Amino acid sequence: MSKRTTPIIIGNWKTTPATKEIAVTFIKQLDKKCGSSKIKLPRKAYYLAVPDIFIPPLSELSSYGYIGAQNSTGTSLGQITGETTPSMLASGGASFILLGHSEVRKQGETSEAVSLKVALSLQSKITTVLCVGEEKRDKEGVYLELLEKDLTVSLALAPKHLLSNLVIAYEPIWAIGKDIPATPAECFEAVIALRRALATLFSIDYAKKIHIIYGGAVTADTAKIFLTDGGVDGLLIGRASQEVSSFLEILKVCHSA
Ligand code: PGA
Repeated sequence: MSKRTTPIIIGNWKTTPATKEIAVTFIKQLDKKCGSSKIKLPRKAYYLAVPDIFIPPLSELSSYGYIGAQNSTGTSLGQITGETTPSMLASGGASFILLGHSEVRKQGETSEAVSLKVALSLQSKITTVLCVGEEKRDKEGVYLELLEKDLTVSLALAPKHLLSNLVIAYEPIWAIGKDIPATPAECFEAVIALRRALATLFSIDYAKKIHIIYGGAVTADTAKIFLTDGGVDGLLIGRASQEVSSFLEILKVCHSA
């Protein structure tokens, strides 16, 4: 895996938009604007994690981005009602899957459950974006230990030969859905802790190369500074990815030289 120079900008649509028609219109408008942008955007400028039901039509439609899922099951084919496996998502057009998002963990998902999901997703050869983040910070730095532990448990079953498809999203829970993101310095500090844990788990070389992205209250005004000063290779964006204009602005600032 070589370190990429193109930032990974992932939008997380969560439970929006309300209909397939709105989702299709969004992608048409976004792609049109990407095509006519004065700032030259890469051939694939964005990733969008959308509700599963929209993956097939949007993945066929989108030419400037990758369409992915927001969750999947940790159990392969079988008798489990209401779940979708990573390979089903891939065959429906998903290029990547977010796992361990704090809004899913909040519903009772443990790091052990996340580790099963990560393992199955990597075995399915799909880009797997593992989200981790602390609930709150403390002066003593205990949160860094908890963060490292969370990462370690979530990756406990990850097959070592399939790690090139793994991306880590550092998402402090106290910033998600709020008005103010972490500072680039706070992000940098957490990213160092995550890379340290990855070096212990796998290797120093891997820890240096793996792509780590930041998420939590990012807007077009704050996006670029995370890439320059926050020690990350991309961003995970919730609310600001749910409007064409705000997402496009972020793509432009992040992909400009
Ligand atoms: P936000 O969400 O950008 O709306 O804070 C981020 C996320 O939940 O991934």
